Amino acid sequence: MIAIYPGSFDPITLGHLDLIGRGSRLFERVIVAVLRNPNKMPLFSVQQRLDQIRHSTQHLPNVEVDSFDGLTVNYAQIRQAQVLLRGLRAVSDFEVELQMAHTNKTLSTQIETVFLATSNEYSFLSSSVVKEIARFGGSIDHLVPPHIALDIYQCYNHNSPMLNPISTETIPPLKSISVDREP
Ligand code: PNS
Repeated sequence: MIAIYPGSFDPITLGHLDLIGRGSRLFERVIVAVLRNPNKMPLFSVQQRLDQIRHSTQHLPNVEVDSFDGLTVNYAQIRQAQVLLRGLRAVSDFEVELQMAHTNKTLSTQIETVFLATSNEYSFLSSSVVKEIARFGGSIDHLVPPHIALDIYQCYNHNSPMLNPISTETIPPLKSISVDREP
């Protein structure tokens, strides 16, 4: 069975990559499809995003990276895919994703949307969060692959990030904090 994993991926994050890895174990083939969206002002061009994703998924032989425009279900039909793969991070995603899945079902009854729950460690992570942290000089090294972190730092005109507050503040050892506990 072939699955399409559509998205903006501006940029791809470790959360997306986790989903691609898990999808590649479930489906014969996963096609990561970057939407060519003329209405958005992305940080990276479609070509840059394709290169970034290809570099990050080169260890997965059944993953292909492509771009598309127009309706996702039309692209899925052209690629003879039966599944649209999407990740769910939280209830807030569910509302939007359910609407999208229902809309897509009205456009093609042949194509099913399959949701994978995002791994716990990435449940807060989005491309927007990554861009916001980098824009204000924070480290994104724990959120995206190293080559993409470098691309992002360059976009925001700094070659290395400032240290994140958590790694610069002195946090007192737990035992020295007195906590009033309920009996
Ligand atoms: O990464 P994103 O921005 O959440 O991805 C959204 C995407 C690209 C999957 C969605 O916007 C999409 O499928 N757009 C293509 C147009 C389309 O098919 N619209 C009908 C479904 S709402």
